[in-house]
Amino acid sequence: MGYLSNMKAVIPAAGLGTRFLPITKSIPKEMIPIIDRPMIHYIIDEAIQSGIHDIVLITAHGKESIQHYFTRSHELEDRLMKSGKEEWAKDIKRIGESCNIIPVIQDQPAGLGHAVGCARSVIGDETFAVLLGDDMIDTTPYPGVPACTKQLIDIYEKQNMSVVGVMEVPLQDVVKYGIVSGPTVSDRTFKVQSIVEKPSIKDAPGRHAIPGRYIVDPIIFKYISETKPGKNGEIQFTDSLFQLAMNQGLLAHEFIGDRYDTGDRIGYLDATLTFGLRRPELKSALIELMKKHLKD
Ligand code: G1P
Repeated sequence: MGYLSNMKAVIPAAGLGTRFLPITKSIPKEMIPIIDRPMIHYIIDEAIQSGIHDIVLITAHGKESIQHYFTRSHELEDRLMKSGKEEWAKDIKRIGESCNIIPVIQDQPAGLGHAVGCARSVIGDETFAVLLGDDMIDTTPYPGVPACTKQLIDIYEKQNMSVVGVMEVPLQDVVKYGIVSGPTVSDRTFKVQSIVEKPSIKDAPGRHAIPGRYIVDPIIFKYISETKPGKNGEIQFTDSLFQLAMNQGLLAHEFIGDRYDTGDRIGYLDATLTFGLRRPELKSALIELMKKHLKD
């Protein structure tokens, strides 16, 4: 994929996970499982399917289990091999080899913009991707459609401009997202003219929300360093993106894929059922369970 093969992804994972207390008191939110894989595994799989293997993980003290998960464990692999569990051994090995995690500690919870800004020295002067861990975007039901981040990289390569992934949300939901609007450039793509973090319903510029997927020019680090605390007193990434949109330009692309808000309990259960039903060894037993609960 030419010069883009070295693209890195930044995954902010330093948050306290308050929406998932009490489990997040001792387990990082990103390590909560969907079936038998932590949520962050699905996010990193999307990066890998998009050709990205270097993951800058913005993390905090006490969340080391995320790095451990993506590091090879020769001891476990050997034990599995010796006990005849070769398939498991291969799976465990594959996870440990699939990506290169570069941990960066965010020492204060100062907002998403601040979290992304922590990656500055690792990213340097290269365009990079940002994937937020609470948003799972599933393209499996759409044969031939690449992973969401790859769809955005393709737009970036074609237009040579930073791009955010967007989806249309019901009006009452605009208060939960960064919202964008602007004139159409081509099918499913428009130029961002207005971008607001969690607007009120009456101030929303439209209904296109950013569910946590971005391809950004490194000039963003300059804008982040200039961004003053905004909504909730935090350095908002959306406010830095506004500067990018006004100066270098920013595109919004309506990606193809199903999005799950796994930071929310119902969104999390929805993802668990979807991915459970997709596993051949679980499907029929899970359907039986669902029937039983529907009867009760
Ligand atoms: C963050 C961003 C917001 C984005 C959302 C997607 O908000 O600030 O712009 O739309 O993620 O999930 P959060 O949900 O972390 O409050």
